[in-house]
Amino acid sequence: MTDQARVKLKPGDTIGIVGGGQLGRMLAMAAARLGLRCRVFSPDPDSPAFDVVANATCAEYADVEALELFASDVDVITYEFENVPAASAMILAARRSVLPDRQILETTQDRLIEKDFVTKLGIQTADYADVSSPQTLRAAIARIGLPAVLKTRRFGYDGKGQTLIRAGDDPDRVWEDLGTKSAILEAFVPFEREISVIAARSADGNVECFDVTENEHRDHILKVSRVPAAISDALAAQARDIARRIADALDYVGVLAVELFVVPGDGGSKILVNEVAPRVHNSGHWTLDGASISQFEQHIRAIAGWQLGKPVRYGDVTMTNLIGDEINSYADWLGVPGATVHLYGKGAPRPGRKMGHVTQVAPAGQK
Ligand SMILES: Nc1ncnc2c1ncn2[C@@H]1O[C@H](COP(=O)(O)OP(=O)(O)O)[C@@H](O)[C@H]1O
Ligand SMILES: [Mg+2]
Repeated sequence: MTDQARVKLKPGDTIGIVGGGQLGRMLAMAAARLGLRCRVFSPDPDSPAFDVVANATCAEYADVEALELFASDVDVITYEFENVPAASAMILAARRSVLPDRQILETTQDRLIEKDFVTKLGIQTADYADVSSPQTLRAAIARIGLPAVLKTRRFGYDGKGQTLIRAGDDPDRVWEDLGTKSAILEAFVPFEREISVIAARSADGNVECFDVTENEHRDHILKVSRVPAAISDALAAQARDIARRIADALDYVGVLAVELFVVPGDGGSKILVNEVAPRVHNSGHWTLDGASISQFEQHIRAIAGWQLGKPVRYGDVTMTNLIGDEINSYADWLGVPGATVHLYGKGAPRPGRKMGHVTQVAPAGQK
């Protein structure tokens, strides 16, 4: 029996969450509703997740002693962000089950490894090439063409660590400005829309996908998600099937998100995988108010060794992120009929910082 199949929590048990952002906070709140406790590990004393748990470990990810104590105080460990250092994950996994498996981090922390993995499954992505120098960048541009997007292989999020290269740009300059040694060049995808699938997989291999979400980004940051996505049933089924195949291939336990591009074509629209997030995802926040079971609860159920829920969507749902200064409008949202306001309790509203979100549910057909 694999390690992950052995985890079976009971109410009152404790989940360790690595990372203290809003995703950890909402995971802990979902766990509390199921009678489960959480201990959060984060180096940042201002972590939003610390506010909602009784037990927290505030220490660096390199603090071996703190990691060991944390592991010994919990019954299973999960994470809310994919950049958990490999060495920390290894220390934790030596003491407690880490779900999803820490090796999945190695695939999803690196855009090149992730794209190779998806491609090997026979799933399409944008054309891409490994880039590690101005010379390899020139060769990649010659093969892929322009415009194209140059992305650091690791640590990118919310559009950070990526740059659009247009015809006429100087590749040497672009390479220098990105300031990395390892990157990938991706063909620019002229997408008609962006969608995502939030999928949950249990230790016994059951997969439940939420309805496909349509995502609108502003300055590379998710601004609005709408469910259901305005795509055909056939395309939606294809998107869910892609998420399921990725989850199965990773022997995944928990919730993952697959971001996809919908591209128009002569034979109808097709979909390409953009990226895989091995965690709950911003485009799944609508499930908190728009479905009978949220992405957070599905994740908790999966890592607890419990049965997944069969989520029922309550209607047409819109989720709007409150980014940076937009948090100052929270009081206006309080009076909007049907709006549910979520604030993350973060301090300074720096530009681009996700401060909260609002969900609005319209019973199907009454939009
Ligand atoms: N190859 C591409 N073609 C067109 N747009 C892209 C491409 N790659 C990224 N983008 C845009 O930038 C956004 C962020 O890029 P993504 O690769 O998802 O990085 P992250 O979300 O980790 O910052 C995407 O949601 C999309 O809007
Ligand atoms: Mg993304």
